[in-house]
Amino acid sequence: MTTSQRHKLLVTRTLPLSSQERIERGFEGIDIVQWKEDRAIPRSELLSLAKGADGILCLLTDKIDAEVLDAAGPQLKVVSTMSVGYDHVNVPELEKRNVVLGITPGVLTEATADTTVLLVLAAARRLREGVDAVLQGKWGTWSPTWLLGSQLTDKTVGIVGLGRIGVAVAKRLQAFGVQKFLYQGTRPKPEAEKEIPGAHVEFSDLDRLLKESDVICVCCALNDKTQNMFNYETFSKMKSSVVFVNTARGGIVEQPGLIRALKEGRLGSVGLDVTVPEPLPTDSELLKFPNCIVLPHIGSGTLETRTAMSEIAIENVLSGIKGEKIPHPHNA
Ligand code: DGY
Repeated sequence: MTTSQRHKLLVTRTLPLSSQERIERGFEGIDIVQWKEDRAIPRSELLSLAKGADGILCLLTDKIDAEVLDAAGPQLKVVSTMSVGYDHVNVPELEKRNVVLGITPGVLTEATADTTVLLVLAAARRLREGVDAVLQGKWGTWSPTWLLGSQLTDKTVGIVGLGRIGVAVAKRLQAFGVQKFLYQGTRPKPEAEKEIPGAHVEFSDLDRLLKESDVICVCCALNDKTQNMFNYETFSKMKSSVVFVNTARGGIVEQPGLIRALKEGRLGSVGLDVTVPEPLPTDSELLKFPNCIVLPHIGSGTLETRTAMSEIAIENVLSGIKGEKIPHPHNA
């Protein structure tokens, strides 16, 4: 292969070990440029390193918009994000330039569903307050009335977005004796309902789900329809004992509305793996509520899952650079 036929791949972060080793070994005919610090690539670096790239392997922390695409140039064929969510990518701008977008569906379903259940239980059983009490010497004698939480047996769980992750969450929660699942989304999904055999699963409008659910899990994508879907008004319609969990995207929740609802005692407990912004500043009001647990966007954070995600992201970008059909396009 002559120099003029070589391709350029930009990788915007160090990847999990086995994928990073593949990157280090290199790929025939491809020059790799990589941002190797363990922090998001600064915008100026992204714009400069993207120049001349045929493929960009990016993360959800990188905003891929017209400016980046223009900086890359007309030879750019593929953007491959190591994430299933792609709200950080301006898809119409990619389409205008015939750049394909690869994502990592499927492989993070189980880990993210695990994290959702973790937050449901942690919020419902007041984990943060219990741990704080132990650490702060506030653990007195055993008490029949102290730190009482709620359990899932015979409860109604609302799932917002019965996609892969929503189904996996419902399957897990079924084992806790949930009586009924209500789900909301763009349409009824009989095929997804069948994946939770033995459970009572009903499609519902949002209002009913808000009013009837003891636990609400947000499992949908962030888009124009779901942005700020949970706000002061929607929180006000929920049961005052509700356990509200969001492991999808921070932008689905209008945070000032959530803070107001928490201040007014309108919510039982809250578990969040995603916020706006990320990282959440340590002086955020959200962190002051003992009944609100916040995790640092680690829904998919297992070695197995992150490795599978980075492998898919590599396959997507390599196929795209070669001009082949990519294995996991965003619109499959
Ligand atoms: C994704 O892939 O979109 C997830 O948020 C990563 O955890």
